Amino acid sequence: MIHIKTPHEIDLIREAGRVVARAFERIAPYVEPGVSTAFLNEKIDAFVREEGAIPAELGYYGYPASVCISVNEVILHGIPSERQILRDGDIVTLDLVAKKNGYCGDAARTYLVGICGERQKRMVAIAEECFYNAVSLVKPGVRLGDVCHAIEETASKHGCTVAREYTGHGIGREMHEDPYIPCYGTPGTGPVLKEGMTICIEPMIFEKKNAVRVMKDGWTVVAKDGGLTAHYENTLVVTSGGYEILTKLDDSGKDEAI
Ligand code: MF3
Ligand code: CO
Repeated sequence: MIHIKTPHEIDLIREAGRVVARAFERIAPYVEPGVSTAFLNEKIDAFVREEGAIPAELGYYGYPASVCISVNEVILHGIPSERQILRDGDIVTLDLVAKKNGYCGDAARTYLVGICGERQKRMVAIAEECFYNAVSLVKPGVRLGDVCHAIEETASKHGCTVAREYTGHGIGREMHEDPYIPCYGTPGTGPVLKEGMTICIEPMIFEKKNAVRVMKDGWTVVAKDGGLTAHYENTLVVTSGGYEILTKLDDSGKDEAI
């Protein structure tokens, strides 16, 4: 069941979303060659708690860290580690959920580490383009299949593929609520968007094939062919005239901090 949020609930999700946006803004200077993904996890954990929120991924179905950190061919749910040191030319996704006053905000950013080539820059740009092409369609009365279709259409225009097994989602008290929001869809199908729905649109993009494998740790999802992957996500609310991104720094409309 899709839960329509009250204005008060939307304020609380916006507050949780701001915690996520601030954490991304503060972590950006640390995403450099030589740093371990465990160090980034520790920093993010502290940034979230300083805001009176909790990192909601920690312990979620047993997930062992405060933020998912996924490097290069890892598309999702990478586990931060002391042994994993970022190097020039890596692309690294931080996917963070903060819970504050009982409500969640969820976003993901893919960062370029040090000196990167066109191949890396292109992947990061495509994931963002997929997000913005999809979100630009969001308004009351539109069917979700139209929005989801725009993700895959944009990715395939660039010769990329999208995740099949993992999706975006509704959000609120729970990190994952109805509806599911795949990275592909059939126009004119699916639930009708209504004012007050809060959703996460999250393009997960593969450079080549979208076949995945889950590693022995039970979490880390990698592209089987070893190609690059990128992921970009925001929480948003459907408004009377369209949408508002809730994982942003302030009310100026600025919504990212890479
Ligand atoms: N943040 C992810 C999402 O975008 C969910 C991570 S689940 C966890 O939906 F268990 F890994 F934390
Ligand atoms: Co999400």
